[in-house]
Amino acid sequence: MIVAIDGPAGAGKSTVTRKLAKRLGFMFLDTGAMYRAVTLVALENEIPLDDNEQLAEIAKTIELTFDEDTVFINGQDKSAEIRTPEVTRKIKSVADAVEVREHLVALQRRIAATGDFVSEGRDQGTVAFPEAECKIFLTASTRFRAIRRALQLKESGKNVTVEEVISDMNIRDYNDENRRVGRLMKADDAVEVNTDNKTINDVVDELEQIVKGRIANAPA
Ligand code: DC
Repeated sequence: MIVAIDGPAGAGKSTVTRKLAKRLGFMFLDTGAMYRAVTLVALENEIPLDDNEQLAEIAKTIELTFDEDTVFINGQDKSAEIRTPEVTRKIKSVADAVEVREHLVALQRRIAATGDFVSEGRDQGTVAFPEAECKIFLTASTRFRAIRRALQLKESGKNVTVEEVISDMNIRDYNDENRRVGRLMKADDAVEVNTDNKTINDVVDELEQIVKGRIANAPA
């Protein structure tokens, strides 16, 4: 079974996805980490970010492994490096490159074929897994999302103001909602869940009920 969770940055996707997967006994897939990994490898190797051919080659050949929250690129733990503000700011060209997306979506499908998954990203319910048994679109107001993101950054030792986060977030939202392929949008059959004013546990409870409802109503 696939539970596809999409939504903008800061809506709570990654925390909620991990907890929901644990409760259901499913594995989780953080597809944003894949786009981040390709961006990091390109930056480390000084590949021009407008060279789609070379970016696609990275996406095709990169060896990505996940162990809970740890992301290994070609065998090396790069969990912290893929989450720096520099990678976040430069990710657009990689996420816009159609050939990169084709390779990464194929990789997502290969991984998901190995078991039950909660998979999160921007295009999981629309492009990667249009047949997913359960689709959720997680939203939150800009202010809530920015406060969450600022707190996360603070925990990792980076002090930024909520206003700075909002400004970066608006740019990323625009990019995510307007790319030619794989843009952020709610699938017609996704359930929209707003996370404003809710604790993580409240949201996980709500999603668990949605998934269990789908399982109960699935054709035998
Ligand atoms: O979820 P995240 O913030 O780690 O994602 C980083 C970027 O990767 C996001 O701004 C857009 C891109 N992305 C994407 O294009 N498609 C996905 N399925 C996941 C992420």
